[in-house]
Amino acid sequence: MRALLDVLGEELKRAFREAGYDDSRVGVTISNRPDLCEYQCNGAMALAKEAHKAPFEIAEEVVVKLEGSQYFEKTECVKPGFINLNISDDYLASYIAEEAGHKKYGFENVHKDRVIVDYGGPNVAKPLHIGHLRAAIIGEAVKRLSKYVGNDTSGDIHMGDWGLQIGLIIAEMKERGMDRMPTLDELSDIYPVASAKSKENDEFKERAMGITYDLQHGNEEYLSIWRHIMDISVADLKENYNKLNVSFEIWKGESDADPYIADMVDRMKKDGYAYESQGALVVDVSEDTDAKEIPPCMILKSDGAALYTTTDLATLVQREEDYKPDSVIYVVDKRQEMHFLQVFRAAKKCGIVPGETALEFLGFGTMNGKDGKPFKTRSGGVMRLQELIDDVYERCLDRMKDNGAEMSGDELEDTAGKIGLAAIKYGDLSNEARKDYIFDIDKFTSFEGNTGPYILYTIVRIKSILRKYGENGGKEGTKILPAANPSEKSLMMTLAGFAPMIEGAWRDLAPHRICAYIYQVANDFNKFYHETKIISEEDKDKQGSWISLLILIKGILETCIDILGFEAPEKM
Ligand code: ARG
Repeated sequence: MRALLDVLGEELKRAFREAGYDDSRVGVTISNRPDLCEYQCNGAMALAKEAHKAPFEIAEEVVVKLEGSQYFEKTECVKPGFINLNISDDYLASYIAEEAGHKKYGFENVHKDRVIVDYGGPNVAKPLHIGHLRAAIIGEAVKRLSKYVGNDTSGDIHMGDWGLQIGLIIAEMKERGMDRMPTLDELSDIYPVASAKSKENDEFKERAMGITYDLQHGNEEYLSIWRHIMDISVADLKENYNKLNVSFEIWKGESDADPYIADMVDRMKKDGYAYESQGALVVDVSEDTDAKEIPPCMILKSDGAALYTTTDLATLVQREEDYKPDSVIYVVDKRQEMHFLQVFRAAKKCGIVPGETALEFLGFGTMNGKDGKPFKTRSGGVMRLQELIDDVYERCLDRMKDNGAEMSGDELEDTAGKIGLAAIKYGDLSNEARKDYIFDIDKFTSFEGNTGPYILYTIVRIKSILRKYGENGGKEGTKILPAANPSEKSLMMTLAGFAPMIEGAWRDLAPHRICAYIYQVANDFNKFYHETKIISEEDKDKQGSWISLLILIKGILETCIDILGFEAPEKM
């Protein structure tokens, strides 16, 4: 299906051509003065100079050619040469009817790339904390969006599973004289103790570093402990991500890149890209056009140890071998921007990935508390993810009770869980990913305003109307009729924007556009709903048309929240 603005733009182009003008710069946009008109075309202004005519004159000639157009009910020239347009109710209704019958509401699958989204990035054996929340939420949304637009997409969790934390745990196990594998509970006690110890005790830290080195060089005893830690951590991670409605197709980690490092480094040396500098092995990645100095990308430390950059480069070698991705998108804290810039440049320069492969960094900002500082627990510590989820859940339960929700037991818990997840995810995703934002539990859990629960409330309201309609013997919706009033017309115009919105959100990796869109749909719908008695309407054609419209709205809202990674309950 073609986008509505393109259809209208084509019609304007025809009119410009028939009036004897070049149509190449002619298009239609949504009016920035909705009080005056619905759409506008500024093409006459662009042509005035070369046509040696006043734009108003051009506009007048064009408008004559729009007489009798099926697309517009009103066309008007205003000074200095705008063409103001109101769309025909009949045409809009037929467009919306077509959209309602289209399986992706007008969106055509034009994207067919192989995409890997690298997100999550938890470090095993450490509990998930709120620092991992944004990576999970934004990454999952980007991945789902990529799938929706048609790409062959996989999410890779890329665990930090090969670092010092493992050495610390094993060192602490030794110190405790443990001669069996730890349980998850023991692990969550061992790690913080070991980590604290390493900060005060250099000797302990040295020992942990030695163990890490031996582990990475094939020590069987350490490897078997590592395997055990991986097994229980991965099971725990799966459960935790599951609660966030986040899942990964690929469960690889930094350790999986390890076997690729030696060959990769050899090749980088042989091809003359990597050279020794102050004992370390580096690749120059600066470019003439750089405004500021980009330091060389370090490949090996002077002691021969691999670094974070090395692992990320070797992971690209492995991804190239396994998947040949057209694009790899990294959803990681924006403070790692320099790291990724170096990795991307080194990967291209050394031929690890082909020049046409897109390597994209979607760096996200920090989630802050109301004091504007990084979010902490009440006692000032790093907050565990579970704690945050529990707090939000409790708040949602309270809100539901205040609202007089008639529910109990499993249904109540399930619903509060869904509202809580919507509150957290929408609160995050409605901000541009790159920006910091303030986690405000009162605001995020509110059933009114620009919040997840408000969107859910709207969907629940639609579900309830559809249920009542069904109970009254109404069958599925009927033919969509021309809008009965201005609020229905605005709603239809908004609904027509679904496909271009999705395309834009994907192009700019901007899930916040989806939030802004569904907020508008919800507002338009609620305005229409308050002005329209749907269930008591006696004209069955009118009522059936509204029902069709509601089914479309529900479909669009549910599609969008599914991309954002949450779902609506039946009641709330
Ligand atoms: N584990 C890393 C951290 O906690 C994040 C990993 C991000 N992804 C990547 N390919 N480097 O900072």
